[in-house]
Amino acid sequence: MNAHRMEALTIVAFVVACGLAIGGATAQSSASPHAAGPGQTVTSSGAKKAEEQFKNIQVLKGVPAEEIFPTMQFITASLGVECEFCHVKNAFEKDDKRNKQTARKMMEMMFAINKDNFEGHRAVTCYSCHRGNATPQAIPAVMTEETKPDKSKENVGASAGASENSGPSADQLIDKYVQAVGGAAAIDKVTSRVMKGTIDFGGKSLPIDIYAKEPEKRISFTHMPEGDNVTAFNGQEGWLGTPGHPIREMHGSDLDGASIDADLHLATHLKTMFTEMRVEDPEKVGDRETYVVVGRREAKPPIRLYFDQQSGLLLRLVRYGETALGWMPTQIDYADYKNVDGVQVPLRWTLSRPNGRFTIQIEQMQQNIPIEDDKFAKPAAGNAGVCSLPVSSLWIQSVLVREPTYGETDRCIGPSKSPVFSPLGSQVLPPSCLNGLRYRNCT
Ligand code: HEC
Ligand code: HEC
Repeated sequence: MNAHRMEALTIVAFVVACGLAIGGATAQSSASPHAAGPGQTVTSSGAKKAEEQFKNIQVLKGVPAEEIFPTMQFITASLGVECEFCHVKNAFEKDDKRNKQTARKMMEMMFAINKDNFEGHRAVTCYSCHRGNATPQAIPAVMTEETKPDKSKENVGASAGASENSGPSADQLIDKYVQAVGGAAAIDKVTSRVMKGTIDFGGKSLPIDIYAKEPEKRISFTHMPEGDNVTAFNGQEGWLGTPGHPIREMHGSDLDGASIDADLHLATHLKTMFTEMRVEDPEKVGDRETYVVVGRREAKPPIRLYFDQQSGLLLRLVRYGETALGWMPTQIDYADYKNVDGVQVPLRWTLSRPNGRFTIQIEQMQQNIPIEDDKFAKPAAGNAGVCSLPVSSLWIQSVLVREPTYGETDRCIGPSKSPVFSPLGSQVLPPSCLNGLRYRNCT
């Protein structure tokens, strides 16, 4: 019971603190094959349902448990509020706040609107009316400036706006992209990538190391004063690590996103990812004109790709997380492309979500150097075994190791690595002792 609570708190704290990660509950992951819409949710029989995991689910029955947090984030983003707008702190199951009860009625209303008017398609969501406000506007705004507002496309995926006949086809755009990056042969030759740079978010700037290796393995370490924030995907499983907390597993759409980010050969894989592609009206990304390709996928939300009309390179990728009420977007803008060993690689990218964004700027990059598979190994679960050492209250001394995979630099490593040197002496800590361990920043 407390585990749910803890998890919710961790997620909230984490998102607020750095906006690095979103969602994920404790149920087993499933491919969440329901593009259908509310009321028509199909749950794969193996996955735990919301009402089996949470205490007081009345409307979202049948929704996979792992979708509850993403769904709550969808609501929060749609209304522009915090969790406490509807929830009693630390007691998410309580119905004490009127807004929570209103929200239940609103969900029923939303499902009914879509059922009665849009053949059950999720045409109307909380965001359609609320647009980031707790109280929707009923009266059109007056014109406050002379210039017409730039109509940015917000209505994704569902809208028409396809201009099939003018301009290049989706196939041609992807071919051009592959050529622009360096050609299929050069792309497929890349087997690993090690990057060092900085991550900027919320006015902070921290060092980050990223390791990626074929097939689809990726791990990033954001070095914070209190330890490393880790985001990892090993080809099958993904997890997030925050100092002082047990690791959290990724689920559903987060896994999907992580596997896309981890793919060193994404350019050459695009065509096989999609069951259908279409070109939409051109859009601007910054000051660049782009062609927009929407790729549909089997049982997953679509992906939008924005290709520079001139260079052919990918300037933006938008993917969506499935929730019970609507899609949560993640937008990645790529910039500062440089030729590294014959392939064009973006050295800067900005990842934006409704509740946060960060920018990563790479300063050093090496490709095709060996990276041990251990680097991507998932640490043991927090409650596997009982730690008999009094480590939880200790600050483990900083650990400097020589990193053969990254030149000859000394690197600070965290408690997930062994051996750990601590006031207890130099020793290999059992996995049960690694979680909750805090360690001092290397200086
Ligand atoms: C606008 C209101 C609203 C906001 C904001 C909101 N929730 Fe909820 N939440 C609900 C409603 C309504 C339910 C119950 C759904 C049902 O009955 O099917 C719920 C249920 C939950 C549950 C299940 C509790 C249980 O044990 O039954 C959790 C956990 C939860 N919300 C977490 C969050 C988190 C975390 C946030 C912030 C990211 C959040 N909620 C924001 C309205 C809200
Ligand atoms: C068809 C439009 C529409 C949709 C869709 C919609 N809402 Fe609302 N919602 C409203 C309106 C209008 C109000 C204000 C009602 C009033 O003024 O009394 C409101 C009020 C609320 C309030 C009370 C806010 C306050 O400050 O009193 C909550 C909470 C809320 N909505 C949650 C949701 C959630 C969650 C969803 C999606 C499941 C949703 N709404 C979908 C139109 C909508």
